[in-house]
Amino acid sequence: MNTEWVTTYGLVPTPVFTCVCPWFSIGIGGGTSGVSDMSGLRHHNRWIYCYMDQRLSALFSRRSVRKYTGKPVSEADVKALLEAGMAAPSASNRKPWHFVAVTEPARLAQLAAIHPHGKMLSSAGLCMAVCGDRDISPDFWVQDCSAATENILVAAAMLGLGAVWLGAHPRAERERDLKQRLGVPENVGLLCLVAVGHPDEYPDARTQYDEQRVHRNRW
Ligand SMILES: Cc1cc2nc3c(=O)[nH]c(=O)nc-3n(C[C@H](O)[C@H](O)[C@H](O)COP(=O)(O)O)c2cc1C
Repeated sequence: MNTEWVTTYGLVPTPVFTCVCPWFSIGIGGGTSGVSDMSGLRHHNRWIYCYMDQRLSALFSRRSVRKYTGKPVSEADVKALLEAGMAAPSASNRKPWHFVAVTEPARLAQLAAIHPHGKMLSSAGLCMAVCGDRDISPDFWVQDCSAATENILVAAAMLGLGAVWLGAHPRAERERDLKQRLGVPENVGLLCLVAVGHPDEYPDARTQYDEQRVHRNRW
């Protein structure tokens, strides 16, 4: 397996101790807070680093970030996130998605007031509302928009931004209020908001691998 210290692209911490666990190793070493590696991913310094498959570091480094500096998200990054969302797979390649990219501070504050867990939106530089046209894909718009959302979350991490998925659909009241505020048409569902900003916290990269959830050849 092509494993490597997830931090080795940054300022290299030398592991001083490694113990072998069934699925990955845990090492204890030094590091530098919030260093950025060559792929743009940021890793927070803690004393424990997990030994993970380095090829998947973009996925392990994507964590929900709920604290932002308040700095605006550049137009180039907004475009990159939209491209990431639209690169997602979709059933029959119908691409039912629409994205409402909110950057105006007053509108971000309004959304923060509507979403029950969305207070961080007032310091985010961007709120991406991920919507799906039910007429284009009545059966699969939720799955298609979920794939687009995950792409946006991973892309945000790769760009050195922080992001978090804020659920809307199928919470009917929440979805209705957000749609109303954003002027989303009746036939379009609003799956979620993605808060995006320059991070003011750095949750650790991690794998959640659990052998008990793995079934080989049959359950
Ligand atoms: C469908 C869905 C809805 C979520 N809604 C919220 C939310 O409303 N507020 C929030 O802070 N996080 C929300 N999250 C983020 C989860 O809390 C988070 O992904 C989970 O705790 C795992 O942490 P991680 O993203 O850092 O791996 C949501 C995630 C998903 C997939």
